[in-house]
Amino acid sequence: MRYAVLGAAGQLGRDLCPRLPGDVVQLSRTGSPAIDLARPESLRLLFDDMRPDVVINCAAYNFVDRAESEPQEAFAVNAWGVRELARLCRDHDRLLVHFSTDYVFGLDSARRQPWTESDAPGPVSVYGTSKLAGEYLVRATCPRHLVLRTCGLYGVWGSGGKGGNFVETMLRMASQGKPLRVVDDQTCTPSYTVDVAETTLTLLKAERTGLYHVTNSGSCTWHEFARTIFELSDTYANLTPVPSREYPTPARRPAYSVLDRAGLQAVGIPSARPWREALAAYLRERQKRT
Ligand SMILES: NC(=O)c1ccc[n+]([C@@H]2O[C@H](COP(=O)([O-])OP(=O)(O)OC[C@H]3O[C@@H](n4cnc5c(N)ncnc54)[C@H](OP(=O)(O)O)[C@@H]3O)[C@@H](O)[C@H]2O)c1
Repeated sequence: MRYAVLGAAGQLGRDLCPRLPGDVVQLSRTGSPAIDLARPESLRLLFDDMRPDVVINCAAYNFVDRAESEPQEAFAVNAWGVRELARLCRDHDRLLVHFSTDYVFGLDSARRQPWTESDAPGPVSVYGTSKLAGEYLVRATCPRHLVLRTCGLYGVWGSGGKGGNFVETMLRMASQGKPLRVVDDQTCTPSYTVDVAETTLTLLKAERTGLYHVTNSGSCTWHEFARTIFELSDTYANLTPVPSREYPTPARRPAYSVLDRAGLQAVGIPSARPWREALAAYLRERQKRT
């Protein structure tokens, strides 16, 4: 099997590539050939030169706040580039694995129950809307698809575009003695990229297609997540919970975007471990690397 992975240098891509059983072609915007979702014509090289059996798209325009003032850029990558990728995979009868986000939900602001794969999405930001457009375009265009919605990713490589991840940001600011104000009214499931990669692999091995939610299990607010990071790493931090209204950002975020993993359960794939255990594993792993 030959896998072509877009966004291979991102935090999820880096944990997924080494786990794939077969040849892995790691693609980036700066590699040779340069594969850029914002330049759909570059995608053709993928099939002309590399002839993958499976295409995995870990790449995305991920700047949630910046997308509010750059909707064209967000849609160029997350929707129109993805559409071209889906069209090419369809024409070559290839499986396309595509990652999406919990931010496709949030419009129903009263909801406090995990969202299932069959719930109607409703994003509250340009980023969420562009990702929803992308997943719909994959599902509508490419019959052989696996669309995986995930949430609150952190991995030892850190998010390529954003530089780092939430855990590292918290630990860095605490080590600098900075006071931390973290929202306590946004609930989701922080998810370790290693666990998302492992579940993706299980789905691939089981030859599953369709839409699945792939996160760690359980849920917490970002404040609770931050508090647990400090507790598990034995770090003192001056941490204060704040409501979202006291931490204004250009993009709105869902108050509750926990993803129900009934889809995995239905096909006999166990949910990944609870988020707290995954965080402890991440903290052990980062310690080994320092
Ligand atoms: N991060 C989260 O909390 C989160 C939450 C839910 C869902 N997701 C989804 O999960 C997936 C993986 O996210 P991640 O956190 O691993 O992302 P990441 O670390 O920020 O990596 C994104 C990758 O996308 C590449 N990329 C950006 N624009 C591109 C373009 N125009 N053409 C080709 N490649 C491009 C980047 O390449 P360069 O190295 O060239 O910049 C980078 O390698 C994405 O679909 C994301 O939407 C993420």
